[in-house]
Amino acid sequence: MTSAAQANGSTEKSAQPDAVPQVYPPSPEFTATANAGPELQAEADADRLAFWAKQAQRLHWHAPFTEVLDWSDAPVAKWFVGGRLNVAFNCVDRHVLEGNGDRVAIHFEGEPGDTRDLTYHDLLTEVSKAANTFSDLGLVPGDRVAIYMPMIPEAIVTMLACARLGLTHSVVFAGFSASALRSRIDDAEAKLVVTVDGQWRRGQAAPLKPSVDDAVEGAESVRNVLVVKRTGIDVDMAEGRDLWWHDTVEKASDTHEPKPFDSEHPLFILYTSGTTGKPKGIIHTSGGYLTQASYTHHNVFDHKVGQDVYWCTADIGWVTGHSYIVYGPLSNGVTQVVYEGTPNSPDEHRHFQIIEKYGVSIYYTAPTLVRTFMKWGREIPDAHDLSSIRLLGSVGEPINPEAWKWFREVIGGNTAPIVDTWWQTETGAIMISPLPGITATKPGSAMAPLPGISAKIVDDDAKELGNGESGYLVLDKPWPAMLRGIWGDMDRYRDTYWSRYPEQGWYFAGDGAKYDEDGALWVLGRVDDVMNVSGHRISTSEVESALVGHHGVAEAAVVGAADETTGQGIVAFVILREGVENTGDDLIAELKAEVAREISPIAKPRQITVVPELPKTRSGKIMRRLLKDIAEGRDLGDTSTLVDPKVFDAIRGK
Ligand code: WT7
Repeated sequence: MTSAAQANGSTEKSAQPDAVPQVYPPSPEFTATANAGPELQAEADADRLAFWAKQAQRLHWHAPFTEVLDWSDAPVAKWFVGGRLNVAFNCVDRHVLEGNGDRVAIHFEGEPGDTRDLTYHDLLTEVSKAANTFSDLGLVPGDRVAIYMPMIPEAIVTMLACARLGLTHSVVFAGFSASALRSRIDDAEAKLVVTVDGQWRRGQAAPLKPSVDDAVEGAESVRNVLVVKRTGIDVDMAEGRDLWWHDTVEKASDTHEPKPFDSEHPLFILYTSGTTGKPKGIIHTSGGYLTQASYTHHNVFDHKVGQDVYWCTADIGWVTGHSYIVYGPLSNGVTQVVYEGTPNSPDEHRHFQIIEKYGVSIYYTAPTLVRTFMKWGREIPDAHDLSSIRLLGSVGEPINPEAWKWFREVIGGNTAPIVDTWWQTETGAIMISPLPGITATKPGSAMAPLPGISAKIVDDDAKELGNGESGYLVLDKPWPAMLRGIWGDMDRYRDTYWSRYPEQGWYFAGDGAKYDEDGALWVLGRVDDVMNVSGHRISTSEVESALVGHHGVAEAAVVGAADETTGQGIVAFVILREGVENTGDDLIAELKAEVAREISPIAKPRQITVVPELPKTRSGKIMRRLLKDIAEGRDLGDTSTLVDPKVFDAIRGK
């Protein structure tokens, strides 16, 4: 089977099952109070749809649903048909009405050291004001709002205000470029853009509003830009278009009556990289999405209302921030930390200081950060009292066993269970993960599909593979938080996810995976042209088109090469146009800057090599696998299908 051999991740080296994998059974003390019990799996096995109907009762429905799942229009699902709810009501008002308005929802920790606690009552006030402002701006249910903001409470308030009004938000990571923002605004035809004057990054105020000005220039759909003053740096405000948050939202009425929306009302669009250059606008809807976000947050993180202090270190620009900072946790009445900055600002102690200060008990982060902590050295976390931690989570890429063990020992006091959670922007919520208190875990394995979720590992012919065999990960049954399509391109939706196994009707996840001898599931990394850099999904062709956008570049090929810290690093090979002078380091720096400008600094190649030719098959396809071998310093395998095998000598000659 070739899929595992092609799997992209650092996994090839690092996350393979150990010969004798160590097993970490749950402690009896943890099991005794765990939210999840064995009945979950039993109920899901007995009647999957009844199981999900029961989970949906975690939410408040203004009108009950009449059918759990309508799959008659597959692959577009309808969950909780006929049900009506308001997502923001579920995340905010409900807790206030239940008498918990004084509970802290958000401990905000600004990068420069400013702090702010928002109770659920405060959140209700803020969200109501924002909703009143958005209505005053003429926005109506179904309109799209682009959100381009750092991790400040107003970003979360904006998302919830959209949800409250039935506006579909599209959060664009504030590290993305103006041109990336523009293409997302255009694709979704956003009417409002919410942003900030600037953001704090490593002690500096970095302007953000100028990128918005660039992005919205000539953007036909945009009527208004709403600006939160975060840093106080000077910005231009366009008359009639731009509005300050403090002149509008802060002065608006703080009462707002939420209206219910259909369970299938679109809640958000989130763009993610696919195998082609154009990002896909993944569509998520309301009732099913919130049900699964809430269910997984409760059971996978064992979240105890009123006791735990939860911290998910993601950014709202990614799906993890949507599902595990905003919707899942807030629907469960969480008390959580929201931190604006980088982990080493002002120094490497910052995360551990925050854990200590707020008594964080559940800490959810990415393997790349764990490996960074390892590099900084354990004396840094060891200088802090981290005894409040009782559960750790990992997401974004396979976690190598070494990092897993370090995480548990150094951050988790050798007792905290680790939940390695596999999911995707498309799945909306966690799909494969251990259940703390139930699952005996193996370092590096995501273990098993959650109760209610069904996955298979298959080969090209849809044959289910046995333990020990690597194949493609597919999801063979619809799930509540599944994507409902790609914005404006339903053909691409069918083609990307559902055309691999049309007869079976399986969702193709794009990851390689295997079950080991004991039936534990190991995710092996992407099997397509999608790279995973620090848990960020970047397509090779996206970077290639940015490089070719430079006047000096005729052709470019990009691969992800294993990287100790970031999982994968981006390695590019470029051919220059006739007559273009290779100025060496200057040219390379210019090309890197071009990618940062076109996409984002996170997409900047680690290495760019100017080459005279690229290895291609006789049919003209660039042989990325061979370039990857070169980038990772491996011996080349079979090059017999190449047009001219000698190109490698030329590339190596560099
Ligand atoms: C891809 C999805 C889910 C939120 C963050 C990323 C990889 C994600 C794991 C994990 C191994 C993982 C997969 C997946 N991935 N979590 N626990 N173990 N791989 O969301 O940007 O949509 O990327 O991230 O390759 O397909 P995303």
